[in-house]
Amino acid sequence: MKYGYFDDHAREYVITRPDTPLPWINYLGSEGFFSLISNTCGGYSFYKDAKLRRITRFRYNDVPQDCGGRCFWICDGDSVWSPAFLPAKTPLDLYKCRHGLGYSVFESSKDKVEAELTVTVPKGCDIELQKLTLRNAGGEKKRLTIYAAAEFCLWNAVDDSTNYQRNWNIGEVEIEGSTVYHKTEYRERRNHYAFYSVNAPIAGYDTDRDTFLGKFNGWGEAAAVRERTSFMSRASGWAPIAALRLEAELGPGEEKTYVFALGYVENEEDKKFSSPGIINKDKAHAMLEAFSTAERFDAAVAELREYWSGLLSRFSIRSGDERLDRMVNIWNQYQCMVTFNMSRSASYYESGTGRGMGFRDSCQDLLGFVHLIPERARERIIDIASIQFEDGSTYHQYQPLTKRGNGDIGSGFNDDPLWLVACTCAYIRETGDFSILEEPTPFNNEAGTETPLIEHLRRSLDFTMTHLGPHGLPLIGRADWNDCLNLNCFSKTPGESFQTCSNFESGKAESVFIAGMFVKYGTEYAELAERLGLGGEAEKLRGAVRDMEAAVLRFGWDGEWFRRAYDAFSRPIGSRENDEGKIFIEPQGFCVMAGIGGAEYGRRALASAEEYLGNEFGLELLSPCYSEYREYLGEISSYPPGYKENGSVFCHNNPWVTLAYCKIKDGEGAWRLYTRSAPAFIEDRSEIHRTEPYCYSQTIAGRMAQNYGEAKNSWLTGTAAWSFAAVSRGILGIRPEYDGLTVDPCIPACIEGFKVSRLFRGTRYEITVRRGNDKGLTVNGTRVEGNTIPMTDAPVCMAELVI
Ligand code: GLC
Ligand code: GLC
Repeated sequence: MKYGYFDDHAREYVITRPDTPLPWINYLGSEGFFSLISNTCGGYSFYKDAKLRRITRFRYNDVPQDCGGRCFWICDGDSVWSPAFLPAKTPLDLYKCRHGLGYSVFESSKDKVEAELTVTVPKGCDIELQKLTLRNAGGEKKRLTIYAAAEFCLWNAVDDSTNYQRNWNIGEVEIEGSTVYHKTEYRERRNHYAFYSVNAPIAGYDTDRDTFLGKFNGWGEAAAVRERTSFMSRASGWAPIAALRLEAELGPGEEKTYVFALGYVENEEDKKFSSPGIINKDKAHAMLEAFSTAERFDAAVAELREYWSGLLSRFSIRSGDERLDRMVNIWNQYQCMVTFNMSRSASYYESGTGRGMGFRDSCQDLLGFVHLIPERARERIIDIASIQFEDGSTYHQYQPLTKRGNGDIGSGFNDDPLWLVACTCAYIRETGDFSILEEPTPFNNEAGTETPLIEHLRRSLDFTMTHLGPHGLPLIGRADWNDCLNLNCFSKTPGESFQTCSNFESGKAESVFIAGMFVKYGTEYAELAERLGLGGEAEKLRGAVRDMEAAVLRFGWDGEWFRRAYDAFSRPIGSRENDEGKIFIEPQGFCVMAGIGGAEYGRRALASAEEYLGNEFGLELLSPCYSEYREYLGEISSYPPGYKENGSVFCHNNPWVTLAYCKIKDGEGAWRLYTRSAPAFIEDRSEIHRTEPYCYSQTIAGRMAQNYGEAKNSWLTGTAAWSFAAVSRGILGIRPEYDGLTVDPCIPACIEGFKVSRLFRGTRYEITVRRGNDKGLTVNGTRVEGNTIPMTDAPVCMAELVI
């Protein structure tokens, strides 16, 4: 069943009931200020780093779920309701939540009062704006009391939820007119504060949470709201909030609009205070002034829409299948932007406090992002490469505020370095900007160690070549892409990190997956080197790639599929010799994508994957699932069968297989797999899938799980970038190459043809793909050999491919 519908024209998903199976969220902001917002207005905001600069509080694992966030109450006579349903929980006469690109709108009504609440983070300003319009749709005058509240976090989200002996003493606010300023720790080392305000005179306020709520009450039963009053509390320690009260009278047909604002300000050290102890509010005043009217708010939303229209126009299609079009044109690209911004930090599953930016994750996220904002991709590549060590290995993660490598997790994930080659090549093919290779880039962020970026790529490849195991396959280290395949870990201690402990450093465990990566990205680098006139280097690498292919065919092929790894005792993993975990998905995807063994091996590997791993939502990660914990495998065997890395559909790696199908020119296979997990194609199974039907989730429970088909970890997953790569480059076959744009579709019989509009290096390509007898590529009316549209300076280029 469905809980809403796609409005493609508005580029929105419209949720028509508040009781979605899980909170269905959206992301606001794309620069410094970010917010998560659910379909009942829950969520939180932060500035750049969800751990260190948390602006509002959110209690993960709270009951009831998803309370707090943005709280609005409308009191109309005896009734109290919330325009987004929570926190009041009063049944509404109408409820709609429209999640759009960078904004969410809540439309609701109760007893002839209509509300429209739009929440957004405008471009270029560190502020969340909430525009609330109330309209009296009845024949009688209405006297309404309106409350709006936000609960402040004491900045460091981890400390905020652990260090109560200190934190209950430090909360401080200032109140000025209709604005509450949250200034905890500003008296000492912080130079930032937050504020919550409304563009109208308030009738009262509260800033102490427990006073506002009253004893034993949650947000749904706030005492001040029940009594239609404000206690004028001034927070001193405990939990600072901003709760604003407005009184309004609406005649029949009359409406009123308010703009609420939650802002973040940083002041220079010598301008922190305007008088002793009083914070300098100049910047806040200017921000509030900039959005002081509904017109200014509307202009900001219009600008945001324009911005997204511009971004999305870089790649759009018309295929005749509306589900495909909405995935490609809107939601998949939107999710690519979100994963680029957030990496794996803040979602309803990622607390924003644990992982920073992952090396491999961020590199892969770029594969779905380079075409959107190439300049930001360039900057990101340099940031990522700057945490690499001189020997080519790298920190696994870095913190976005400091950009420094994260020492807690350290290094030793031996797939990491190769992903740098993947994203850099993708960036250059997209932009033609070879100059990035000359960009001076440090090792481990140490000044003085800068070398041209290309040297980092070299060392990445060298690292693989110099870390081979007994079968000539790459050593796996802590883990490869599969973070849970910890072959040197041998952990017995509860709570010990599977990713960082190594109780038996075998120096032997090898990864067939990394071998596949090396063949693919080593070949890409060799092509690049040839273009740069580095023939000798290219030749050497091609030699290493050939050796690796030979090693895979000799030791990595199991007869019907590719093996996964060799363990610490050099026993195969992912082989028919194993009692469980006989076949894994990752090497089938990567080795076939890399062309190892050609189409013949490819066909057999993919047929085996489908036979043993296929379910109705995609391909499971492995089969049969591990039924018990095995020390020599690590975390993968810690999960109950069917969950996460132990045999769920781990959505991230399914598009590798889609691309592998394209590699062997099997359009039906590619389409079958793509449509099994693409959210818009399974929207009508939302009660089983449960996560948002407009974005990918990381994992869908496999057949062995009790809750087969249930998805988890929506939004922040490499699935977004790889799915976009699979559908755009594989199925639709629109591939940026160094010398032009290639059109090489691999579509199923059910798609007749399609049109693509693609902005590529300043030229707009309008491409038509259709079936017919006059096969071949025509560019601006002229027949062209092959499948690549040559580069042009013209602003527009028309091309037609007949297949
Ligand atoms: C998570 C991690 C990613 C890893 C994957 C498979 O998504 O973020 O780095 O590759 O799990 O274990
Ligand atoms: C767990 C998860 C995996 C994730 C890792 C991050 O192992 O199963 O998906 O990548 O944690 O450290």
